[in-house]
Amino acid sequence: MKLSKVRALSGTIKVPGDKSISHRSIMVGALSENDTKVLGFLKSDDCMSTINCFRKMGVSITENDDGNITIRGVGLDGLKAPDSPLDCGNSGTTARIISGILCAQEFSSTLKGDSSLSKRPMRRIIDPLSKLGAKITSYNAKETLPLVISPSEISGGEISTDVSSAQVKSALIFAGLYANSALTIHEPSLSRNHTELMLKAFGADITPGTFENPTTIVHPAPVLHGRYITVPGDISSAAYFIGAGLIVPDSEITIKNVGINPTRAGILTVLKNMNASISLDNLHDESGEAVADITVKTSALKATEISGNIIPLLIDELPLLAVIATQAEGQTIIKDASELRVKESDRIEYMCNGLRAMGADITPTEDGMMINGPTPLHSAFIKTGSDHRIAMSFAIASLIMDDVKPLAIDDTSCVSISYPDFFRDLDMLDVDYPKR
Ligand code: S3P
Repeated sequence: MKLSKVRALSGTIKVPGDKSISHRSIMVGALSENDTKVLGFLKSDDCMSTINCFRKMGVSITENDDGNITIRGVGLDGLKAPDSPLDCGNSGTTARIISGILCAQEFSSTLKGDSSLSKRPMRRIIDPLSKLGAKITSYNAKETLPLVISPSEISGGEISTDVSSAQVKSALIFAGLYANSALTIHEPSLSRNHTELMLKAFGADITPGTFENPTTIVHPAPVLHGRYITVPGDISSAAYFIGAGLIVPDSEITIKNVGINPTRAGILTVLKNMNASISLDNLHDESGEAVADITVKTSALKATEISGNIIPLLIDELPLLAVIATQAEGQTIIKDASELRVKESDRIEYMCNGLRAMGADITPTEDGMMINGPTPLHSAFIKTGSDHRIAMSFAIASLIMDDVKPLAIDDTSCVSISYPDFFRDLDMLDVDYPKR
């Protein structure tokens, strides 16, 4: 496992399937009328949590000899009552989105999660779903997991969310499939739209929001038709190699087949503003999602401000962007990103503490961080809070340290949440040195 300085990086890699799309493929596939076959499904701990929840509700989900996943759809009303609590593990996406499906079933269910997920806010789904008629109870004052969800009638109408969160929006969209009339969902600014695109492809009557008008309209009681889905590479996983290629000297890396849906590709916009050398080739569409090969080269980066409506379009990439900003000339400001405090860890605290220990000039703010660069980084002891994105961000920071000691990271196993083979893929790149 590489956690120390490298001379240069080069090569071509393929990152695993998109986590958000993989979760949704199980959910939408399960509610469809016939089989769905998923190519490129991400077999990570988070996505396995979603598979296990649906298996517990009687859905057959099998891995085929070719590594692809087949989901035997049971239709909108075919889920069975689980005989014990549904365990969402570490996955906020599973817990929040599945709530929108469970609240409309004829059976009661209980959702639980691991210690990190059990601290994360669930009020954001309890409140809007309850406004539609859902009966969701948390037995603690903080309104966290476990949640008990009882049968209810779901109403359509109009609802506004307080946060631009695709998890919240998706919970409402799924509830809307069971509503007594159309449901219109307004969000403060557009969040990732994979649920909308996938439901549309499966035959739902849904109008996705746009950047100008982030309002989604979903009509109830569609017949969803199972189909083939190809999951593109996850831009949130590709981001680590994009970052490495930009900050390690004399590097050039190509990442093949990455999803570049505009509601996910905020990192590309920001990096281009920072003077990054990034090019996109082989642009095409897979199952309604935009895909491209991304090539990055070592760049002289400039500081920037990352704020406002772009934040939901790169929320999971902000820890890595903080690492990149330590190598950019000037002051980078990240603001309007208080959501970082309620992810798998408080990502503002963990990034600032770790990068400061490595020698960076970084200051936390309530809703972001301020980073002055460029500064050399050196080895240190890093606490990750068992957060996969913190661990991978620091693995990238370790590649440019100015000493030979390796970086000590308290938990690297947590990468299995979203990218089980991350360290193997990173090692594969190092064997290849650039031609000069
Ligand atoms: C996700 C949405 C984002 C993101 C998470 C995955 C999704 O969370 O941080 O990793 O698949 O819908 P929010 O929707 O809460 O911002």
